[in-house]
Amino acid sequence: MATRKKIGLIGAGNIGGELARLFANAELGDVWLYDIPAKENFAKGKALDLEQNGAVLGYDSNIRGTANWADLEGADVLVITAGIPRKPGQSRDDLVATNLPIIRDVANNAKKFCPNAFAIVISNPLDAMVYEYRRVLGCAGSQVAGMAGVLDSARFQLFLAREAGVSVKDVRAMVLGGHGDDMVPVLSMTTINGVPASTLIAKDKLTAIIERTRKGGGEIVNLMGTSAYYAPASSAVAMAAAYLHDQKRLLACAAYLDGEYGYKDLFMGVPCIIGGKGVEKIIDIPLTEEEKAMLANSAKSVQSVVDVVKKS
Ligand code: APR
Repeated sequence: MATRKKIGLIGAGNIGGELARLFANAELGDVWLYDIPAKENFAKGKALDLEQNGAVLGYDSNIRGTANWADLEGADVLVITAGIPRKPGQSRDDLVATNLPIIRDVANNAKKFCPNAFAIVISNPLDAMVYEYRRVLGCAGSQVAGMAGVLDSARFQLFLAREAGVSVKDVRAMVLGGHGDDMVPVLSMTTINGVPASTLIAKDKLTAIIERTRKGGGEIVNLMGTSAYYAPASSAVAMAAAYLHDQKRLLACAAYLDGEYGYKDLFMGVPCIIGGKGVEKIIDIPLTEEEKAMLANSAKSVQSVVDVVKKS
């Protein structure tokens, strides 16, 4: 007998709500929107609104709000947004003290109630939070991924498309490294449907686009007073769909590195194949010397936050 997949969304805030809408609209499964007891009614109200939305749009997914982890029992996928977002002037790393106990709480409950769920972490500082989540679970690296690369690549692609005057659909680009201001847009692999971006966009414009991509999250925080949620949610749903439908998509994700790219026991953005077994493969792409140096710099930043986490 066919059964629906169970999707657990941990954190029913801005990204959590948008995730629920996208998962339900795509009928990827039934959705549980979890938040802390103080926000239980908020989660339940949001879930009810989203279920009623299904009667208009025509989706059948059940969406429930809860503050009880037992409801997440046996979830197939968890997407974790629990924690506080940035405010103007804050870096993602500034969130570590607040979000570390939260990710530990989430990971301990996930270990108890749905230890086999494929987990996608969005909470910031991303690379350190996903590291800690896996450490607490003690699971295989392939079962956990951080969402950053799809989003950062999307930002890069949009800016490139606008500058070149082409459709976003035709821009192929990938942003690797940590989800911070020293992330690595890989220019050597960036094309407009196979045409190197540098043939269509002048060097100074490309440099400005790389800079804008690196600060892409902060640009939105400064405008809205809180962090982005539409594109982050879509990015995580793309990763979840790749897992649920065994799509073998090649996406940039924060993946557990065990020697790949020369890094060990670290999560960082690299090209991965996501399929029914989770992060099935990390793809080693040739980087220029300059890109390798940028990746090393980014890895250093990630490691310094992970070191703080390890000592806390
Ligand atoms: N368990 C579950 N949910 C929690 C917990 C916890 N222990 N602690 C806090 N939360 C909930 C909050 O109650 C809130 O509803 O997480 C939710 C976060 O929602 P928002 O404040 O709207 O934040 P959002 O914009 O969704 O971003 C969440 O993702 O991109 C990152 O930097 C961002 O770390 C932030 C996270």
